[in-house]
Amino acid sequence: MMVVGLAMLSWAGWAVDEDESLPAYTDGGADTCMRCHGDEDSAHLMAIFDGPHGVMADSRTPFGGSQCEACHGPGGDHAGRVGFGRERPPMPAFGPNAPWSEQRENEICLGCHRESSHRFWEGGTHQQQEVGCADCHQSHTRRDPVTVQSTQANICLDCHIEQRAEVNRAFAHPIRHGEMTCTDCHQPHGAPNEAMLASPTINQNCFKCHAEKRGPFLWEHAPVTEDCTLCHRTHGSNNPGLLTRRAPLLCQQCHSRVGHPSIGRTANDLPSGSPSSFLLSGSCLSCHSQVHGSNHPSGATLNR
Ligand code: HEC
Ligand code: HEC
Ligand code: HEC
Ligand code: HEC
Ligand code: HEC
Ligand code: HEC
Ligand code: HEC
Ligand code: HEC
Ligand code: HEC
Ligand code: HEC
Repeated sequence: MMVVGLAMLSWAGWAVDEDESLPAYTDGGADTCMRCHGDEDSAHLMAIFDGPHGVMADSRTPFGGSQCEACHGPGGDHAGRVGFGRERPPMPAFGPNAPWSEQRENEICLGCHRESSHRFWEGGTHQQQEVGCADCHQSHTRRDPVTVQSTQANICLDCHIEQRAEVNRAFAHPIRHGEMTCTDCHQPHGAPNEAMLASPTINQNCFKCHAEKRGPFLWEHAPVTEDCTLCHRTHGSNNPGLLTRRAPLLCQQCHSRVGHPSIGRTANDLPSGSPSSFLLSGSCLSCHSQVHGSNHPSGATLNR
């Protein structure tokens, strides 16, 4: 059995109702726990000693303090002697039978992790939906899979079924291959904007990797400066180029066919009411190729 040795016993400092009576801490810390949880059945738990929480020399970590109980809460009752025919009291926090609420469990983690990226946790969508830190994070691992690019998305997609379908569509950001992941665009701890995006606006998110679309352009295309998602689906699409729909329908959501110069030029050649041969000969993009904006002196109509 591994002997950890208890550096210090302290109440980790999270808010507790004053009149609530709490169980006591164990005297031996992790060594007490491992009398029962140090066997082969518990081998998977021991990976915690190889991760960032297991650094005993660092007093900021659980194992530099109250050890297992820094996260699980005081275990005196649970670890104590249990009378014949009686049930062992559960640990207060984390684990299948823990009686403490999700919010209270989160407070334990937040007690040590209230730094910058958690500024927006309160009021963020995950906090409001009562998602727990431990719904995404694993503690008994050497490397928490949600912090690893190639394994993160699967954890998110367990809850986000709609997005799972989207990232598997024919045209998608390369998320399913692990080349990109959700936190390239999202801040899962909460952000004060739409969809908890990592950058303040949708376009600023996109410019991180598609800087050439930022411009400034001599001739701008208004919807591009406004919001990329007017034309693109960000997670995935059945249309090439991640488009919301294909041209010409894409363009005709906003642009009327009436009055297009090509119609004027060809109307005499066609039976009245027929569509322009220019429009049939190819989509809008074969002429308006600079759909994101043009720097050509005569690119006003985004043709060059
Ligand atoms: C005397 C033996 C013993 C000691 C000491 C002990 N446990 Fe347990 N623990 C058990 C048993 C048995 C179970 C399984 C209980 C069950 O399945 O209902 C358990 C279950 C748990 C669980 C699963 C959640 C639950 O409540 O079912 C957690 C978490 C846990 N122990 C943490 C700890 C921690 C942390 C310590 C040290 C403070 C500790 N245990 C000390 C025997 C012990
Ligand atoms: C950093 C916080 C943290 C520390 C420190 C910690 N645990 Fe846990 N433990 C958790 C969380 C969170 C869970 C819920 C499952 C998960 O995320 O891995 C858990 C789950 C458990 C479980 C039940 C799940 C299972 O797989 O059996 C047991 C038993 C347990 N821990 C025992 C311990 C013991 C013993 C120690 C000390 C050696 C310890 N824990 C230290 C956070 C912690
Ligand atoms: C007693 C304080 C303490 C508690 C309680 C605590 N942590 Fe930590 N945690 C730390 C410290 C210290 C580090 C290492 C930070 C560093 O190296 O900068 C850390 C690191 C982490 C990391 C970074 C892991 C990585 O791979 O980079 C995550 C994620 C994390 N903790 C999540 C949690 C969660 C979830 C809980 C609650 C179940 C929790 N922590 C409870 C102190 C704590
Ligand atoms: C929706 C999933 C999710 C939830 C819920 C969540 N996290 Fe995280 N957390 C992540 C991801 C993903 C990362 C890695 C971020 C990255 O790599 O950019 C992370 C990173 C971290 C880190 C290490 C880097 C940092 O930002 O400081 C800590 C510590 C952490 N989380 C603690 C917590 C705590 C505490 C809670 C609960 C209050 C929590 N997390 C809730 C997904 C989550
Ligand atoms: C335990 C389930 C769960 C997990 C795991 C989870 N989420 Fe969520 N998430 C939710 C719920 C519930 C909502 C609110 C309803 C919705 O929008 O689907 C939500 C909402 C969101 C939103 C929309 C926020 C808004 O304000 O509109 C984003 C973005 C998001 N999650 C990203 C992530 C990412 C990234 C991860 C992985 C790091 C993740 N989620 C993991 C449950 C989860
Ligand atoms: C390329 C950037 C990008 C990546 C990568 C990304 N998202 Fe998003 N996500 C967005 C944008 C932008 C929005 C808001 C506009 C929209 O719905 O298209 C959004 C919206 C969401 C929403 C809210 C949808 C709604 O209907 O309110 C959820 C949930 C979500 N994303 C989850 C995820 C998950 C899970 C992953 C990883 C598998 C992920 N996202 C990866 C950019 C991204
Ligand atoms: C973290 C980097 C990153 C961010 C942020 C990002 N993208 Fe991408 N994007 C990529 C990568 C990588 C590809 C795949 C390129 C390839 O396959 O050659 C891609 C591909 C695309 C494509 C399809 C290209 C094609 O030829 O099919 C479109 C459209 C696109 N992104 C739009 C967006 C939009 C809109 C946003 C903002 C919501 C965004 N991207 C944010 C990295 C990013
Ligand atoms: C008015 C509709 C529209 C808007 C708005 C729009 N795009 Fe596009 N985008 C397109 C079309 C159409 C294509 C396909 C071009 C082709 O097939 O030649 C495309 C292709 C792309 C591509 C892949 C090919 C390339 O040119 O690199 C990327 C990346 C891209 N867009 C990023 C963005 C970003 C980032 C934004 C927001 C700044 C944005 N788009 C806004 C219509 C739009
Ligand atoms: C979301 C609406 C929207 C979509 C979709 C859209 N546009 Fe536009 N487009 C505009 C607006 C608004 C202007 C600016 C009109 C103005 O300044 O009078 C514009 C301007 C233009 C111009 C320059 C016209 C001029 O008079 O300066 C061209 C050419 C153009 N769009 C082509 C396209 C093409 C091709 C597509 C499809 C790939 C497309 N647009 C999709 C809204 C849209
Ligand atoms: C065969 C080439 C061609 C095709 C195909 C084409 N256009 Fe044009 N379009 C032009 C030219 C050339 C102009 C500029 C005429 C001018 O300067 O008088 C123009 C002008 C425009 C303008 C500016 C309108 C105006 O009155 O000045 C818009 C908007 C536009 N096109 C949208 C579209 C859309 C939407 C499609 C697809 C449904 C499309 N175009 C297909 C060649 C084309």
